[in-house]
Amino acid sequence: MVNHLAIIMDGNGRWAQQRGLSRSEGHRAGAENIGKIAEAAMKYGVRYLTLYAFSTENWKRPAPEVNFLMKLIPVFCKSRIAAMVKNGIRLRTVGRTGDLPLFARKALLEAIDKTKDNDKLTLNLALSYGGRAEIVDAVNALLQAPDRPEKIDEATFSRYLYAPDIPDPDLMIRTSGEMRLSNFLLWELSYSELYVSPVHWPAFDEAELKKALDAFENRNRRFGDVAAKK
Ligand code: IPE
Ligand code: IPE
Ligand code: MG
Repeated sequence: MVNHLAIIMDGNGRWAQQRGLSRSEGHRAGAENIGKIAEAAMKYGVRYLTLYAFSTENWKRPAPEVNFLMKLIPVFCKSRIAAMVKNGIRLRTVGRTGDLPLFARKALLEAIDKTKDNDKLTLNLALSYGGRAEIVDAVNALLQAPDRPEKIDEATFSRYLYAPDIPDPDLMIRTSGEMRLSNFLLWELSYSELYVSPVHWPAFDEAELKKALDAFENRNRRFGDVAAKK
C-alpha cells in the first residue's frame, strides 16, 4: 500500500499547447485537477500526498507566468477549503514559503488553519521548494539550534527537514514523461519507487493514478537486502 505518494505535476504547458490554449490555461486546469486526484488517492488508502507545485527554479520563468501561478494559490485555497473540511483533508506546505507573495501566504495560512484538525489525508504542497534548498535550510537550522548536537546521524538530521513527522514517500509519480527529479525531495526519495506517466498533469485522472498504484504493488522493494519486503 502506498502510504505517502509524491507527485511531480508536470506538463501543464504542453497540455495547453496541444489544445491551442495559453500556458495559463494549462496551469488553471492543472490546479483544478488537484482536488480530484487528492480524493481519488484517499480512496486507495493514501494518507500523505505531496505535490510539487512550484520549485525554487520556477522563479526563473517569465514574470507574467510566475504571477499567474502565485494568483492561483488563493484561488485554489478558496475553492477547495469547503471540500477539504468535508473530506478530512489537512493542508500543509513545504518549501521556502516566505518567498511567496503575502496574498498567497495569507490564503495558505487560512486554509492550513481551517483544516488543521483533519486527519484522513495530509495534502502537502511543495511551494518554492527545492531539495537542495531543504537540505541547506536543515543544515542552517541545525547550526542555529540551541541544543546543537556535536555529531549527527541520519535520524537526527532528518528532524531538521521541513516535515520531519511525514514518512518518506513510498511512490513518486512524475507526469508528462520527463525522467528526472528536478530537485524534488532529494533526501526523502532515496528509496521510493519511481513511476513516470506519459500523461500531462491536467489530463492525469483516477484511472492513470490507479495504473501507477497497481504498478507499485508489483514492485519488489528490497532496500538493499536479498528478499523483497512489502
Ligand atoms: C508544471 O507544468 C507546472 C509547474 C512547473 C509550475 P509546466 O509548466 O512545467 O509544463 P510543461 O513542462 O512546460 O509542459
Ligand atoms: C518540476 O517541473 C517542478 C514542478 C512540477 C513544480 P519543471 O517543469 O519545472 O521541471 P524541468 O524544468 O522540466 O526540470
Ligand atoms: Mg515542466
